[in-house]
Amino acid sequence: MKSSRNRSYRIVAIPGEGIGPEVVQAALIMLQKVAALEGFTLQIDYGLLGAPALAQSGSYFPPATAQLCDGADGIVFGAVSQGGLLELRKHFDLFCNLRPIRMVDSLVAKSSLRPEKVRGLDLLIVRELVSGIYFGSSGRATDEQGDYGYHTMRYGDREIQRIARSALQQAQQRRGLLTVAHKENALPHLPWTRLVQAEATDFPGVVVEPMLVDNLAMQMVINPLRFDVILAGNLFGDILSDIGGGLVGSIGLLGSASLNADGFGLYEAIHGTAPDIAGRGIANPLGTLGACVLMLQQWGEEQAAQRIVSAQARVLAQGYRTADLSPQANEILVNTQTLVDLLLAELTTEQYSELGVLHESRK
Ligand code: IPM
Ligand code: MG
Repeated sequence: MKSSRNRSYRIVAIPGEGIGPEVVQAALIMLQKVAALEGFTLQIDYGLLGAPALAQSGSYFPPATAQLCDGADGIVFGAVSQGGLLELRKHFDLFCNLRPIRMVDSLVAKSSLRPEKVRGLDLLIVRELVSGIYFGSSGRATDEQGDYGYHTMRYGDREIQRIARSALQQAQQRRGLLTVAHKENALPHLPWTRLVQAEATDFPGVVVEPMLVDNLAMQMVINPLRFDVILAGNLFGDILSDIGGGLVGSIGLLGSASLNADGFGLYEAIHGTAPDIAGRGIANPLGTLGACVLMLQQWGEEQAAQRIVSAQARVLAQGYRTADLSPQANEILVNTQTLVDLLLAELTTEQYSELGVLHESRK
């Protein structure tokens, strides 16, 4: 990561497809505003990935995109429907995927669970992102029984050890409980429990709790508040993090950071391209915005991050909801642009309240 002392950052925006361009645009407007308020500068370059890249240059992940990202301070990514994303993650060795699942107070009624099951929920999924079944040998072939396909869940011990250390570090900074998703009753050659426990000796105070991933999925919907950090391989982490969307009321709310060993990262929402609502201007930008908050925190721009988080909390507390949150009678349906306008207004309001000029944040 580049030094933040000059407080000038270059990001590569990769809008992608579907609702990707809409939510990235919304998040960038917010970033520019918060930069102006907090006194740092942002340079934004635009890169191609996925179908638009294929159409223009014949490749899902063109070399030009990789070059553009080289030396940047972060990648803000929208969504793609087919190729490109896995290659991008692999190219920059973005092995550490952080997916915070937090319940916003004013949205507890939106959860698929009863309010008392989710109020105050704050868990973190640490997902390994550049190995496992997504990257193991795969193919289609034919034998005497006919055609078949295969994907191989392969993990090097060292790949498990390095993501284990990231997760242990996170747990140490949080409440000290690390739940490890595994499936050792059926997949004994992937000994996540033993490998994580060995690394944990360097992290005193962290309790390592191995849990079979099927049981873990059930525990997440029975008693999500019991969790702190959940460590999972690539495929299990993908599945478990969508459960998080159900817990907090909409997958459209969740953002993630994908980091390499140098702290360089790609920041994206957990949701996909949502082709059913693409181009209509109604997508929820809060997932991508949440990812940008993680980027600001990674840069050490804690105040800017906090500013966005509290602006968002206030706008949601006032009852404004994008369509994915199914607004009820006492709530106000807004589109992407209106939500951004409300958030922008709250960003500035907060500046006053910090100065003690305005104590009441609601207008
Ligand atoms: C995610 C997505 C991706 C994944 C898809 C688009 C390949 O579901 O980031 O959760 O499985 O990693
Ligand atoms: Mg997913």
